[in-house]
Amino acid sequence: MTMGRRFLSAVALAAVGAGLAQGSAQAQAPSSAPVDMTAAQARADQTVKAMQPDERTTLTHGIMAIQLFPGAPPIPADAVPGAGYIAGLPRLGVPALKETDASLGVAWVSGARKRGATALPSGIAQAASWDPAVMQAGGAMIGAEARASGFNVLLAGGVNLTRDPRNGRTFEYLSEDPLLSGMLVGAAIRGIQSNNIISTIKHFALNGQETGRQFVDIQIGNAAARESDLLAFQIGIEQGQPGSVMCAYNRVNGNRACDNSWLLNTVLKRDWGYKGFVMSDWGAVPGLDAAMAGLDQQSGEQLDKAVYFGSKLAEKAATDKAWAARLADMNRRVLTAIYATGVDKNPVTPGGQWDAAAHAAVAEQTAIAGMVLLRNQNNALPLLRDAKSVAVIGGYADGGVLSGGGSSQVQGDGGPVVSRPVLAGGMFAGIMQQQFHRSSPLDAIKARVPQAAIHFRDGRYIADAVEAARRSDVAIVFATEWRTEGLDQPDLSLPDGQDALIAAVAAANPRTIVVLETGGPVAMPWLDQTAAVLEAWYPGARGGEAIAKVLFGEANPGGRLPVTFPASVAQLPRPKLDGSDTLDPDFMGNPPTPTTTLKADYNIEGSDVGYRWFARTGAKPLFPFGYGLSYTSFAQDGLSVDGKTARFTLRNTGKVAGDDVGQVYLVDRAGTAKRRLVGFARVHLAPGESRTVSVTIDQRLLADWRDDGKGSGGWTLPAGNYGFALGSDAQTLGQVVTVRLAARNWKD
Ligand code: BGC
Repeated sequence: MTMGRRFLSAVALAAVGAGLAQGSAQAQAPSSAPVDMTAAQARADQTVKAMQPDERTTLTHGIMAIQLFPGAPPIPADAVPGAGYIAGLPRLGVPALKETDASLGVAWVSGARKRGATALPSGIAQAASWDPAVMQAGGAMIGAEARASGFNVLLAGGVNLTRDPRNGRTFEYLSEDPLLSGMLVGAAIRGIQSNNIISTIKHFALNGQETGRQFVDIQIGNAAARESDLLAFQIGIEQGQPGSVMCAYNRVNGNRACDNSWLLNTVLKRDWGYKGFVMSDWGAVPGLDAAMAGLDQQSGEQLDKAVYFGSKLAEKAATDKAWAARLADMNRRVLTAIYATGVDKNPVTPGGQWDAAAHAAVAEQTAIAGMVLLRNQNNALPLLRDAKSVAVIGGYADGGVLSGGGSSQVQGDGGPVVSRPVLAGGMFAGIMQQQFHRSSPLDAIKARVPQAAIHFRDGRYIADAVEAARRSDVAIVFATEWRTEGLDQPDLSLPDGQDALIAAVAAANPRTIVVLETGGPVAMPWLDQTAAVLEAWYPGARGGEAIAKVLFGEANPGGRLPVTFPASVAQLPRPKLDGSDTLDPDFMGNPPTPTTTLKADYNIEGSDVGYRWFARTGAKPLFPFGYGLSYTSFAQDGLSVDGKTARFTLRNTGKVAGDDVGQVYLVDRAGTAKRRLVGFARVHLAPGESRTVSVTIDQRLLADWRDDGKGSGGWTLPAGNYGFALGSDAQTLGQVVTVRLAARNWKD
């Protein structure tokens, strides 16, 4: 019964989110019952009081719920194979916490659960929708599956800003902008937690690269951090009220993020007033003192050197009042999250059912909403259905669509249709697999042009691909770029000779369409030779069908880039990714020797991440942040701004229905050039239709953070003229509208 209601709401939200009904403005996503942390805290206090001494460290630590190697202790009988398990306190009505990854759906854990789940498109694909409603519908769907699979904690909410497009986890995260990332992750968390389960937001904070992930030390000034990566978390927490924050592996200004009092105590808990609990990333706890730095729960404890938050913590608390108080607070926070989300009143059991078709529809709508049309010469797309011959080349398009690797890997029942090993052996060979979901673009294309001769070539050889392209009306090349947790990309090129393949096919057939299945930005040396390029990202469980619908114009692409596509790595703040020339690839990201150190200097760009860096340096990217074409055309005008809200009008000036995304940027502040996204709205428009929307301007985006020298401080808005412009991307901006604002200072 309950599950049935949940599906309906997920599907209904998807319909709105994908723009089938109408677009949604930035702050107008459908909302579910808000999570009330304050009321939950009072109940938590009662339970903490009722705890016996030997119960006080039950909720503060737990295992990775997978038998890590043959002979390792079995996982508890009531645990579900997955990322984590924290024992409960049945005497006090506190359920065990059963944790699964992650933002793209219920993780596959190499088939350990013997059950699949619906894979959403990658995080960056979701974010390319620029639509909180899409995020919320996706969150509601994966949350429902987590619950039905016996999990009450979803380790979702990856929101680290894309500071380096080579980051291997770019596909899991959302964008390079704090407002866009924060609004979108908050919506996803609302959707997840509407299932009465806990969602995390992660990885707190500044987890910007995988190379040396366990020890890379991020150097950044407090103000720059508050205005960028931390602001994304802050907005996400305000919007989504996640029960838990997962701290990151990396160091920040010297201290490990899970042992970082500034991040956890000062910023998160004091300045933001966060009432939920901080869980560690798996294997990120350096010692017992992390508790005093603000860490509340040790996760995946087999991966740390010791179980710090069990008997060691209990002993300390037994003899030291400050530690006893801290332990009570740790329990209170975990319980607050449990009560606020209703985890205790809505028990989870594995083996629940869901409506697979309805959930697949959510995945497909999300994929469509996030596809970005990057190039479309002479309206090469949409494809006509009277094609006589089509060459389909590469990317295992005969089998499915690519997905990203690591803990977030989701698979449907039966597992991947193709699993291509990266390593021949060793501890990580099992997870270092390029996995494809069972959704064949080739089959979906064939179904739409049944009369056409389809020439499929696997793309291994240029010669036969060129031959097939030469004798076809149109050539569609599927190019893949696999990314994984644990490794960064060495550069932005497509691997395995695909750049040469595309160039040769495009030379043989001027009607060459490139479909990119990439985890993030890639270089396109062949761009000018092609007729069209569609960025499909990792499009999830129904990716093949979604791609075909867009290629044939059954759906109009409305996605916009949530990250800048650089023209070259030389344009980045760090042309060389730190550690890429000194460390060998290592999934764990540990230091090769105990004395090895690694620093990444984020002070270079400070809070000017992504397009803000490009605006500051004047560099011209390959494609700017916010960019995306459509099968129709739009006009944007009528911007008016009073400092608190912006109003503008979007009009469909073309012949087919489509979605436009209005983007408002601060471009000038008191005579200084700026480039900051301050508002956005995705709107669905019929041909000829126009809509006026208004968006609220978060004042923090206009301000600077002033640090008080003690790690805290507040926001400062200088008096002066503020210039705003409406844009179709971060570089294509309309007339500047100026408003005079008075000086203001405030605390969060
Ligand atoms: C990842 C987390 C994940 C955890 C549990 C870690 O390696 O960084 O994102 O939630 O594993 O699987």
